[in-house]
Amino acid sequence: MLKINDINVYYGNIHALKGVSLDINAGEIVTLIGANGAGKSTLLKTISGLLKPKTGEILFENEHVAGKVPQLIVKRGISQVPEGRRVFANMSVEENLELGAFLRKDKKGIQEDFDKVFQLFPRLLERRKQQSGTLSGGEQQMLAMGRALMARPRLLLLDEPSMGLAPLLVKTIFRIIEEINQTGTTILLVEQNANMALSIANRAYVIETGKIVASGTAAELGQSDQIRKAYLGGH
Ligand SMILES: Nc1ncnc2c1ncn2[C@@H]1O[C@H](COP(=O)(O)OP(=O)(O)OP(=O)(O)O)[C@@H](O)[C@H]1O
Ligand SMILES: [Mg+2]
Repeated sequence: MLKINDINVYYGNIHALKGVSLDINAGEIVTLIGANGAGKSTLLKTISGLLKPKTGEILFENEHVAGKVPQLIVKRGISQVPEGRRVFANMSVEENLELGAFLRKDKKGIQEDFDKVFQLFPRLLERRKQQSGTLSGGEQQMLAMGRALMARPRLLLLDEPSMGLAPLLVKTIFRIIEEINQTGTTILLVEQNANMALSIANRAYVIETGKIVASGTAAELGQSDQIRKAYLGGH
């Protein structure tokens, strides 16, 4: 579904992604794990068109999309839930969700997706008139995910959805990620919570200072001593 070949991304002189290659098959949950500053968000932003790679290619369903504008990439079927949620604080829950569908014209489909989002996140239904800035952190995460789903993506990019959430809510969010996947959405999940991410993923990549240093099935990486020491708090 997605094929990234040897991309190099810079911020000015800073070489943030160094020859990164990564593949995602339709239907998978793939997780990208790595420490602060490793380049995880940079990779997601490059896929979603917010950053342009200097070299290398990105193919989504066999179409070259590297450097294309974000709107086109959303239209093609990729949406991103950004790090830190970034909901529009002065707008209601409902208005934030409407914005997620702003490139669509199929009124009936949009209504169906509203229903789906409210089914996944009943909390958002209860609070649909509430100003989004007054939602709790966990509710804002739900809203950011719901907003991304309103574009009806085939590939959903999630940037640290568990950040700052209490353990019980982290569990809920991960369960919902699995549910979204089971309804046919492919997922690229960026996480520092490597244990949880590996527990729901099919495959994983590890990124260190802009380079992919390991990849394999989630089970393989979960058993690797090196990965356990560096990312899983294991011995
Ligand atoms: N706008 C920017 N200008 C310059 N450097 C940047 C910019 N954004 C990110 N960087 C640098 O690029 C590198 C990768 O950053 P990135 O945000 O992708 O890391 P990350 O893996 O998402 O980290 P975190 O887990 O803390 O979110 C870091 O060294 C960071 O300082
Ligand atoms: Mg990040």
